[in-house]
Amino acid sequence: MRFEIRKRDAAGRLGKFTTNHGTIRTPTLLPVIHPKKMIITPKEMQELLGIEMVITNSYIIRKDNNLRSIALKEGVHQLLDFDGPIMTDSGTFQSYVYGDVTVSPDEIISFQRDIGTDIGTILDIFGTPDQSKEEASEGVSTTIIRAKESMKLKGDMGIALPVQGSIYPDLRAKCAAELGKLQADLFPIGGVVPLMEQQRYPELIRVILAAKQHLPMHIPVHLFGAGHPLIFPLAVALGCDLFDSSAYIKYALEKRMIFSWGTLHLEDIYELPCCCPICSQFTAQDLKKLPQKEMIRQIAFHNLYVCMEEIKKIRNALDNGTLWDLVEQKGSENPYISDALHILRNDTQKQWLETFEPVRRKKALTYTGPQTIHRPILYRTHQRLLERYPLTADTLFIIDEKEVSYADAKNVTISTLFESSDDIDIIIDSSLGPIPLALYEMYPFAQSVFPNTLDQDTLEYTKRIFSAFTKNKKIKYLKGTQTAVQSIKNSMTQTESSFDHQKIKAIAAMQFGLQAATVLFDGNITLVKSKKTQKIRNVFVDNSHVLSFRASDGFFTLKKAGAFQLHKALPFPSLRVIIDDEAAPFVKEGKSVFSKFIIEADPALRPYDECLIVRSNDTLLAVGQCLLNPLEMMQFSHGQAVKNREYFS
Ligand code: GUN
Ligand code: ZN
Repeated sequence: MRFEIRKRDAAGRLGKFTTNHGTIRTPTLLPVIHPKKMIITPKEMQELLGIEMVITNSYIIRKDNNLRSIALKEGVHQLLDFDGPIMTDSGTFQSYVYGDVTVSPDEIISFQRDIGTDIGTILDIFGTPDQSKEEASEGVSTTIIRAKESMKLKGDMGIALPVQGSIYPDLRAKCAAELGKLQADLFPIGGVVPLMEQQRYPELIRVILAAKQHLPMHIPVHLFGAGHPLIFPLAVALGCDLFDSSAYIKYALEKRMIFSWGTLHLEDIYELPCCCPICSQFTAQDLKKLPQKEMIRQIAFHNLYVCMEEIKKIRNALDNGTLWDLVEQKGSENPYISDALHILRNDTQKQWLETFEPVRRKKALTYTGPQTIHRPILYRTHQRLLERYPLTADTLFIIDEKEVSYADAKNVTISTLFESSDDIDIIIDSSLGPIPLALYEMYPFAQSVFPNTLDQDTLEYTKRIFSAFTKNKKIKYLKGTQTAVQSIKNSMTQTESSFDHQKIKAIAAMQFGLQAATVLFDGNITLVKSKKTQKIRNVFVDNSHVLSFRASDGFFTLKKAGAFQLHKALPFPSLRVIIDDEAAPFVKEGKSVFSKFIIEADPALRPYDECLIVRSNDTLLAVGQCLLNPLEMMQFSHGQAVKNREYFS
């Protein structure tokens, strides 16, 4: 089995998961198929809904003489009449719901192997939220022992090892770390159904975070029993790849219809607020009049359509970098999701999320509410402002955001402020916090859409950042851009290009670090500008092309000469991705680097960062662009990790 990442956003992954019965796209939803009562068949799901993988229960199959003998003789794919990948569960959930199950851990894993399951699940111990820590801990220990025993019996079958530990993050962490050492193909997060049913989303999120932070990155993660679309975006943003849904059928049996924001009873629906094929064909009145069995089937169909629509929205968001928007929207649709999001305001969680955060996106950062200011990209940006931005002047000139338009910032009006001093810093007081004018074109500053009227949380938060950033400096507020121009002109002596120089240094410092910014511009700087827009396009130092400037997001791409300088000046392993010698000849021909060839990477690198691709003896081979974060680069064994931009042949 193999798992690789194609695209990413937040800690979520747009992936490809390859099994013995084909490759599926993740994140995805596995409808639960009851082997005796298929109200919708897997084939119908495949053909009508684009379902790629299903999950069924081996315990139920094994208990039924007829099903067992068909499954053993012809295989589980034949039994379900489905040629895509099939995952099976073990009876753990039956044990949780009904008490004892009459099968041993060894028997059920061997049975799953013998019926040709693609991914079988061990008989783990379901840790309930009401357990004491001692009980939960014992369940974790037994689950780990059973996982190790089951590994010996699984044969060629893929295996799922569920992370248990009730509501105790340290037990979840321990279970994840221990199971993570075994060669599993899938890590479900188990024991969360009661949390989901009772909408205890904050506890659910703590559990997911604790598990994810201790599981290996290169194995997909399944959230066991999460079938409601309300939780999908947040779970994906925290790194869950698979979901299973029995909710679609359970709710249908109670005449309840799932919607992306919640659930409604058919009796309470005046008009169907959905355009799926079912809701387009029937009115609410039509549905109510259908014979019982048919009504259930139609509602089940609708429920699956709605779940799959949400999955598709999430996959799009992963592709175009708007997953946080979806997550925050769910927070405003449901108070418990909103509570759960508060956990992500904690610095420890922000630090973890930041490591996955792409350095830039194509789409603007759009405010959805008080949670937006807590996005990992803003956490990083503020950290870097405080740690990397080279504030040199003693007095900072502050302009209110409302008084400076983007046009001002990019045209000569503002750069003329710099006519007469080397030592001037203009800071825009904005909805995102302080923005040095020199960074005004850089993502996410210019590429953000915030309302004029902000919520109190955001105002207080940005005020704190502003105070930290301007600490120990004299501050001079300037009213009106024109006034600003005048008063700064009056007191400064700076050449016209000084602002450009300040700008390139500031951007390079934010992007590569302070030392890199010093190294890159050590020499005679020449800027090549666009004739049409007057924007910087390329930076030459002593006639060597060191950087190109991307106008769309205000970031630099590193050119060969720049890479050479940084390689010479920055200590190993700064900015580097170190690859196996075996892969060096390919990189020297311009091929991208696959994860399996990566030995080490600078832990400070982030997805879409520029990097130096080197051999283990630190010979510089190429300039690259990271597609993964350093931990992922080292753990994944399939898929691209670093794009080759320019190579030294
Ligand atoms: N289905 C829902 N939750 C669980 C769980 O924790 N373990 C297993 N094996 N199946 C589940
Ligand atoms: Zn519908």
